[in-house]
Amino acid sequence: MDVEEALEFVDHLALTTTGKHLDSLQKAILCGTWNNQKYKEIAQHHNRSEKYVKEVGFKLWKLLSVALGEEQVSKANFRAKLENLQASNIVSLVGNGCIHIGNISADSSQSSKKLQSEPQDKDKFHEKTSNSEPKIHLDLGDAPEPNLFYNRTSELTTLENWISSRTRLITILGLSGIGKTALTLQLIPQIQHEFDYIIWRSLHNSPPLASLQTDIIQFLSQQQETELPSLIEYLRSHRCLIILDDIQTIFSSQQLAGNYQPGYENYGTFFKQIAESSHNSCLILLSWEKPREIAALEGENRPCKSLQLNGLGTEAQEIFREKGLAEEDKWSQLIDLYRGNPLWLNIVATMIQDLFGGSVSEFLSYDTLFLGDLESLLEQQCDRLTEPEKQVMGWLATPEPADISKIPENLQLSPPELLKVIQSLGRRSLVETVKQNGRSYFTIQPVIREYIINKTRSKN
Ligand SMILES: Nc1ncnc2c1ncn2[C@@H]1O[C@H](COP(=O)(O)OP(=O)(O)OP(=O)(O)O)[C@@H](O)[C@H]1O
Ligand SMILES: [Mg+2]
Repeated sequence: MDVEEALEFVDHLALTTTGKHLDSLQKAILCGTWNNQKYKEIAQHHNRSEKYVKEVGFKLWKLLSVALGEEQVSKANFRAKLENLQASNIVSLVGNGCIHIGNISADSSQSSKKLQSEPQDKDKFHEKTSNSEPKIHLDLGDAPEPNLFYNRTSELTTLENWISSRTRLITILGLSGIGKTALTLQLIPQIQHEFDYIIWRSLHNSPPLASLQTDIIQFLSQQQETELPSLIEYLRSHRCLIILDDIQTIFSSQQLAGNYQPGYENYGTFFKQIAESSHNSCLILLSWEKPREIAALEGENRPCKSLQLNGLGTEAQEIFREKGLAEEDKWSQLIDLYRGNPLWLNIVATMIQDLFGGSVSEFLSYDTLFLGDLESLLEQQCDRLTEPEKQVMGWLATPEPADISKIPENLQLSPPELLKVIQSLGRRSLVETVKQNGRSYFTIQPVIREYIINKTRSKN
């Protein structure tokens, strides 16, 4: 399949699905994507803003995902998906105005007619079919480009339902690399029709609340008004979606989870205000740690919800397939060990390729879990812990789940203190609860256990 055939195929698909041909910008996005161009380059060639081109791109991938019944088509996988579909004979283009998708065949003779009768005058054609400027204003700031993405259907459905039922504050929690950012990027095209404004900001530089609010208001006002209303007034008068990524940066290190750094406490009041006051907008927070006020605010019928993101299941095998690992029967063991964390699995797959030429069994034959590049990632999260948290992690770093009613003496923690520490570790997604005979036991996952054991060993 070449780019022309791909364009023809997608054009047929768009016509059968939406009744409209692709417009010139959509074609430019497809061509650019096929040739590995970034949105920025496509936008420059087409005299459009990068923001607008991304927005049109998102819609296009959504349309393709729906039309093909594929999990997720994205900029990163568009070419591979089409080539795969053709290679597996699922898609065939035939020169008589028909496309075949699996056993469905769409007669687009009408489209051929339209194409023929479509003006030789290109401008008129584009004018008729081009996207009118969108009603939604989208500013994804420094959000990364969506990448290969597998599954997460149930999480996406949950988030969509929460948004449709007017949840005002959603927190997506999970360890680094578990896929919070990737999931939220996938969510945007699915819910964007519900909003007038969508803005994404990362807090990785820990902006003070006032400067973040000014930045958001500037976007919401589209720099048109001289007297700017407050942010909450905008959230009342328009349906806005604000996504704040990496919010752990505003929390203190060496304090229990979710405690604000000095000077950032007003973020807590802001989150509470968004959750409690009446408006139709939504704030999504992505974090390693759960903010303290969220726990008190959330509940079944409350406008505040949290999603604890766990690892991928068997679909994570796609990561290994893509990396070209051998011994497929061992892959589920790897996924289990690394708890389906997509970032860790990517790193481990690369490591297995580099060290063992792709042999998973050779990698697994070592008694200890080799962490390699994962070590520095884990350090960033574990360095944030308080001393008592570190001690409890050391205690939990055994294969057997621990019974917290039997506190070892060396911990020197009272039962309420221990519970507080365990709760904090839970809010950092670092401990797992196991139910045995109606009682709760606590444990930590293998990779983190290995990290803690290595750390203790190197100290002694
Ligand atoms: N469902 C998925 N399928 C395939 N790859 C995924 C999936 N989710 C995440 N990834 C990949 O895993 C890596 C980590 O994901 P992501 O950046 O979303 O994690 P995160 O939870 O936001 O981490 P951090 O807290 O460090 O920002 C990325 O390279 C991403 O493309
Ligand atoms: Mg992230």
